Parts: sequence; structure tokens; C-alpha cells
Amino acid sequence: MEAILLVGGKGSRLRPVTEYTPKPMVPTAGVPFLAHQLARAQAAGVEHVVLATSYLAEVFEPYFGDGSALGLKITYIHEDEPLGTGGAIRNAASALESGPDAPVLVFNGDILTGLDIAGLVRSHQAAGADVSLHLTRVEDPSAFGLVPTDPDGRVQAFTEKPQRPEEIVTDQVNAGCYVFRRSVIDTIPAGRVVSVERETFPGLLASGAHLHGVVDKTYWLDLGKPAALIQASADLVRGVVPSPAVPGPTGDYLVLPGAEVADGAKLTGGTVVGAGARIAADAVVDGCVVLDDAVIEAGAQVRASLVGAGARVGSRTVLEGAVVGDRAEVGEDNELLSGARVWCHSQIPAAAIRFSPKP
Ligand code: GDD
Ligand code: MG
Repeated sequence: MEAILLVGGKGSRLRPVTEYTPKPMVPTAGVPFLAHQLARAQAAGVEHVVLATSYLAEVFEPYFGDGSALGLKITYIHEDEPLGTGGAIRNAASALESGPDAPVLVFNGDILTGLDIAGLVRSHQAAGADVSLHLTRVEDPSAFGLVPTDPDGRVQAFTEKPQRPEEIVTDQVNAGCYVFRRSVIDTIPAGRVVSVERETFPGLLASGAHLHGVVDKTYWLDLGKPAALIQASADLVRGVVPSPAVPGPTGDYLVLPGAEVADGAKLTGGTVVGAGARIAADAVVDGCVVLDDAVIEAGAQVRASLVGAGARVGSRTVLEGAVVGDRAEVGEDNELLSGARVWCHSQIPAAAIRFSPKP
């Protein structure tokens, strides 16, 4: 089996997390997110992965090399100018070795899911489809690609990010994993920007192609926003969603080698502490991603937040649902809540931002 992984997006909605790190390389549960996707693909029988890179492309190959450490062969294909999701698939297909009728998997690079990948391929083959899509049900489908199907699973329409309320005809959305018949990829125009969601899928449907949707209720999360990325990491650490790439036993927390956690510090809720990071006494760190060399000082309370590489969180500071960028410093006695983002390298003085009076 061969697979194309789309990893060229800018991850703008995650900034400043993605300031120096492309979204698929952001550590979740102690390893770049992509490692979980590659390990899951390998476990499902994928042997060759083509990584379609663009933004910060140079960081992938030094980490994953030829893929042999993961039991895979990895080929890197680079787009100087991003070609869009469809253009990237077409461009990456130049590195595929499969014949025209073979099934080829395509993954968005920011999805954490417990999907039975091999099962999707079997369903694709049983249906004799041109393309099969993993679909999931969400409460608010407006931020996704809407994919209504008939009772046999045949896709009836594809509406990417609907603009009008009357377009929201289903809660089934594109979950970002496809099986293409190889020859169908070759019909995507080469050498220009193409959106698979806005152009390829609607075009295939209009020409009578057989698109098959597989709705599945398994764990599914798009890591496009900081809260989702932090949640994904905590769920991987706790084993809520299994990944062979988690570097340690699953449980309430994961502390990487070289981190220091003082007696009396409390780590809970699937917190991961990166190499060289230090958590001081009486700090509470719940459901967080603490990246390498970060420091959380005494008595700080950090919940559902991401603390960037080399960043510092001062004593008694409270973070809840916050992101602290790489090497930023948040002085003591601050209170940063509900989606606050501190940009990389910035410095917040002691007690400068609070949501409540100073005790
Ligand atoms: N190589 C390359 N080149 N990759 C790209 C490009 C590009 O020009 N543009 C986007 N990607 C990659 C991103 O890195 C990401 O892994 C994937 O394609 C999807 O892009 P996102 O920017 O994350 O799209 P989205 O989340 O708004 O919507 C997509 O995913 C939803 C599910 O999470 C769509 O496929 C929706 O239909 C879908 O519902
Ligand atoms: Mg996305």
C-alpha cells in the first residue's frame, strides 16, 4: 500500500505554535504529530509514504529520514509554491509506484483518528469506487467539507465550508482521509493550484464518478486550533486514542527523559513534559503540552495550555486554555485565560495581565 500525506499547510490558525514548526511537526504526546500518523499508517499495512511538503519543508527529512526506523519508505516531494490540496496530491503522485488500478491512501496531515484504515480500503474495493472518503459526524459542520450520502453510501454532493445556512444539509463531514484509485489522481490537472475539496470532488461528481462515503463514529479530531492540538496530545498520553508512537506507557502524564519534575508538583490529565523542561514544586500542570526546555515555576497553575520550547511561566501564574510561544516569558502572578496567545520571545512583566483582582 502507498499513501500520500498532505503536510504543506501553514497552520495559520495555530500561530504562534507554528511560527517555527510546521503543524505536523508540533510535538504531541512527546513526538511530532506526524509520527503518530505515520505509525498508524504503517500498522495498517502502508509501506510507502509520499510526504507532500511546502511550508517549512526542510524540517521533515532530518527527523524522519528514509522512514526505515518506522518500518516505512518515505519519499519527500516539495512544492515551491503551495499547490493546494488537489495540486499537492497530483504532484506527489509522481513518486508513487502503484499501477493505475491500485488503491492509494491520502491523508490530511492534521487529523488524529482511531479510524480502521485497512477497513476503509476494503470498503473502497468492495464498493468498486473511484474515490472513497472517511466521513465523521460533527455538531457544527460549517468549518468542514459537507458530504451527504445516499443509503448505499454513494456521495451526493461535496460542499466545502458552506457559506449559507441552507447549504448545511447534513452533519456528515469530510474527515480528511481518502482512498483514490490511482488513475483518478492522474486526472487532476498538473502544475497549478487545485483544491481537492472545491474543484476535484465536485468535478468528479458532476462527471458521474463513483464517490463512496464511509461514516464512522471512532475518535476524530482536526488539530487546526490550539485547543484541539492540546486535547489531542492529552488523549494520546492517556491512551484515549491509541498510537504506537507514544514514547512511554500511557497514563495520567508523560515525562520525557531529561525533564525535571520537583516533589510536590502535580501532573495530571495527560500532561506531557518535554526533554530539559523543569516543573517546580507545587506547580499544577493539568492536560497540557510543555515543550522542551520550558520552565514552570513554583505554584503556577497551568491547565489545557501549551507552553512553548524554552518558554517560562512565572510563580503563581495561572494559565487556562492559553498558548505561550517559544522562548516567551510570562512573569509571576499573571492570569491568562480562554484562548490567550503569547507570541514567541515576548515578555509579560509580573502581574501585568489578570482576569481577577490580585490576591
Ligand atoms: N502539500 C500541501 N500543499 N499541503 C497542503 C496545502 C498545499 O498547498 N494546503 C493544505 N495542505 C494540507 C495541510 O497541511 C493539511 O494537512 C491538509 O492539507 C488540510 O488542510 P487544512 O488547512 O487543515 O484544511 P481544513 O482543516 O480547513 O479542511 C480540510 O480538512 C477538513 C477535516 O479536518 C478539508 O479537507 C475539509 O473538507 C475537511 O472537512
Ligand atoms: Mg485541518
